[in-house]
Amino acid sequence: MKVNIGITEKNRQAVAAALNQLLADEHILYNKTRNYHWSIEGPSFMEFHKLYEGQYDELAEIIDQIAERIRTIGHFAEGRLKEYLGLTDLLEPSTTNDQQKQVKNLLDDHETIIRYIRKQIDIIDEKYKDAGTVDFLTGVMKQHEKIAWFIRSYLN
Ligand SMILES: [Fe+2]
Repeated sequence: MKVNIGITEKNRQAVAAALNQLLADEHILYNKTRNYHWSIEGPSFMEFHKLYEGQYDELAEIIDQIAERIRTIGHFAEGRLKEYLGLTDLLEPSTTNDQQKQVKNLLDDHETIIRYIRKQIDIIDEKYKDAGTVDFLTGVMKQHEKIAWFIRSYLN
């Protein structure tokens, strides 16, 4: 059944592509955060073990929302890890059990995602006229901004 919600097919396709790239980034960050939850060592082990768990749970929910937004505008969400690695802007450095390095790596990723979403919000608003996705992405960006604040506070 054709999607008839007042956004052209071409525009919906462009928005879905932007969302699929974000979906890829979120998967990379989810995996990294979960890996750090496993490998963290040091005097603050339990604090970080729990902090990371809360963050990857939040990322899992974001992932689901992004994929369902893609379906809502009539397209399919990428589901293969191979696809995500091809689409993502994030890097996968060697894993580390060092708290400062973990926090710095995660902060870089959250800030990269925040900059990407902020740019996409403007494009999707002005060029593709998809107010629903703009509203949705604004919420996701705010979630990343808050997580970024939390982890930035461990760095000085
Ligand atoms: Fe666990």
